[in-house]
Amino acid sequence: MTSLPTLTIGQYTARHPIIQGGMGIRISGAGLAAAVANAGGIGIISAIGLGMRSAYFDPHEPSPKKRHENFLEANRLALIDELQKARALSPHGIIGVNVMVAAHGYELLVKTAVQNGANLVISGAGLPLKLPAYTADVPTAALLPIVSSARTAKIICQKWQRQYGRLPDAIVVENPNSAGGHLGAKRQELDSPDLEAEQVLPELIAYLHNELQQDIPLIAAGGIWDRADIDRMLALGARGVQIGTRFITTEECDVDRRYKEFHLQAKPEDVVVVSSPVGLPGRALKNPFVEKVLAGNPSKSKEPCLVNCLKVCKFRDSRDTYCILRALDRAAQGDVETGLVFAGSHAGQAEKILPVAELMAELTLS
Ligand SMILES: Cc1cc2nc3c(=O)[nH]c(=O)nc-3n(C[C@H](O)[C@H](O)[C@H](O)COP(=O)(O)O)c2cc1C
Repeated sequence: MTSLPTLTIGQYTARHPIIQGGMGIRISGAGLAAAVANAGGIGIISAIGLGMRSAYFDPHEPSPKKRHENFLEANRLALIDELQKARALSPHGIIGVNVMVAAHGYELLVKTAVQNGANLVISGAGLPLKLPAYTADVPTAALLPIVSSARTAKIICQKWQRQYGRLPDAIVVENPNSAGGHLGAKRQELDSPDLEAEQVLPELIAYLHNELQQDIPLIAAGGIWDRADIDRMLALGARGVQIGTRFITTEECDVDRRYKEFHLQAKPEDVVVVSSPVGLPGRALKNPFVEKVLAGNPSKSKEPCLVNCLKVCKFRDSRDTYCILRALDRAAQGDVETGLVFAGSHAGQAEKILPVAELMAELTLS
């Protein structure tokens, strides 16, 4: 086995070509991101829902409008705290922030991230067309859109070049057939070979070389579990990989231990695709909550929309489906029966909870 190359994105070079994927609602916070950065990878804090369990948020505020505003501000303050914590734990590591375009407060969170020391911003779940505008004050911050197709990457490159005179510093190419969490394809498109890395990576590399004359690093994401998966992605032309699910079963992952243990107990056949109120499918582990969602009956909730967290939400608008923020938060707090446990297609293979350094060594040693 040859040794893995380093990964340079913008002005940052990581010893190992591994980015830990952002995992929302406090699954990847400062603890996990700093541990990955200290082990020579790139650690990512997910900015989504950080305020939810923070001292800055009051869920009992009676006015929905004030609750919404309070939540956005809590997310901002909690992100600053998390970045400071990560920097204290990893003074020299590469730390980035993942912000979903689909979330309310997107612009505020992106600005907060780069103004508080995030080395890079990774952004998907929608087209991050304005990302360069929001980060213009901090040009050293590297920008990475997440795409699932060469077509989407082209739209982003053309718009950024025309409007802002810049291109992405790297592009995360996430395979919806295997990634965990919200997926960048419609349900009826899933399983198509057109979404596989074997198809998308070469097509995108050809576009970047032939039409833009650019050598933008591509980062493959979705279903990457071991060294063989990493080697396969690099052979296809990826410069690095983004890994989410495998980092859940680490000591430093910020989520409740019961969530990690639920991942340990899972079997490959427990990984299913559910619909989410965002209007995108999501990949998750089967549990009593998911069984109800799959049966089309996640109990029409009488609960009000908590904080209007998403730009598009079927629960907010029609009480259809379920409140995704509450469902993800319940799971992250350890309620793996009635919460939503996101997971990639390779979940069910983890055998024990490892320190990040041990996992990184396993993934990178030649
Ligand atoms: C529990 C969980 C939460 C996630 N949350 C986010 C998120 O907040 N934003 C995002 O862009 N991607 C999110 N993802 C996707 C990951 O960042 C990563 O790209 C994906 O999990 C890669 O596939 P893998 O899990 O098979 O490694 C999440 C994935 C999981 C498993």
